[in-house]
Amino acid sequence: MAKNIELYNDKLAEQYDEATLKGKWFAPNKTNRLLSQFGFVKNNSAVLDLGVGTGQSIKSFTNKNCKIYAVDISNKMLRIVRKKYPEAKTFKYDISKGLSGLRLKDNFFDVVIAVGVLEFVKNIRKIIKEVDKLLKNNGYFIFTYEILLPEHKLQRLKVQYNADGYIENQPNIAKFKLYRRSKKEINEIFKNTGYQIIRHFKIRAFLKGPAKIPVYYGVVLAIKK
Ligand SMILES: C[S@@+](CC[C@H](N)C(=O)[O-])C[C@H]1O[C@@H](n2cnc3c(N)ncnc32)[C@H](O)[C@@H]1O
Repeated sequence: MAKNIELYNDKLAEQYDEATLKGKWFAPNKTNRLLSQFGFVKNNSAVLDLGVGTGQSIKSFTNKNCKIYAVDISNKMLRIVRKKYPEAKTFKYDISKGLSGLRLKDNFFDVVIAVGVLEFVKNIRKIIKEVDKLLKNNGYFIFTYEILLPEHKLQRLKVQYNADGYIENQPNIAKFKLYRRSKKEINEIFKNTGYQIIRHFKIRAFLKGPAKIPVYYGVVLAIKK
């Protein structure tokens, strides 16, 4: 049976670009800019995007003869990616099951991206360890996570339903869990891995709900050594 998060994103897919590009969703632009600043957007790269959505987070790698592997739980999102970027290979897959079911080659990717998705995955540690295996040496992982902020109106709980706090009488498909992490927790996970974190900072990621409350993410850029 399809999970609520899949049904929700299937429903959202057709309006996603219009809704987010109206200036409410800043995360992919910020991660794309960071990768460009570091000179990491190179021709012929092998790129994996986890939770690709409509492809906003892979924009920098298109038209560069890159091998793009785009993963999402929503078929409707992937359909839009295929229309925009026919060169992308798409995988309908739930990353909360772990990445081994994707049957990708180890030590293959130059870059792995996960923007706006890991807050929906309970076991972020497992994903970070599995991405480590998929990356080549000197490959990098850029991802966002939703930060736990005890003073914030919407970000003070470690776990809650996604729409809690701003939608009353939530429809069933809006009920899926969101997991928040502290910067310390993320840094701990990276200890004793093959990575080195080269940037780790907070951004204003998007404006949530009719009251347009700013939601903050942590951004991590890590290199496999
Ligand atoms: C907020 S959107 C971000 C999309 C894109 N990365 C961007 O920056 O615009 C989150 C995406 O993650 C997908 N997603 C959520 N949970 C997932 C899971 N467990 N496995 C794979 N994709 C998932 C959703 O379907 C949605 O397309």
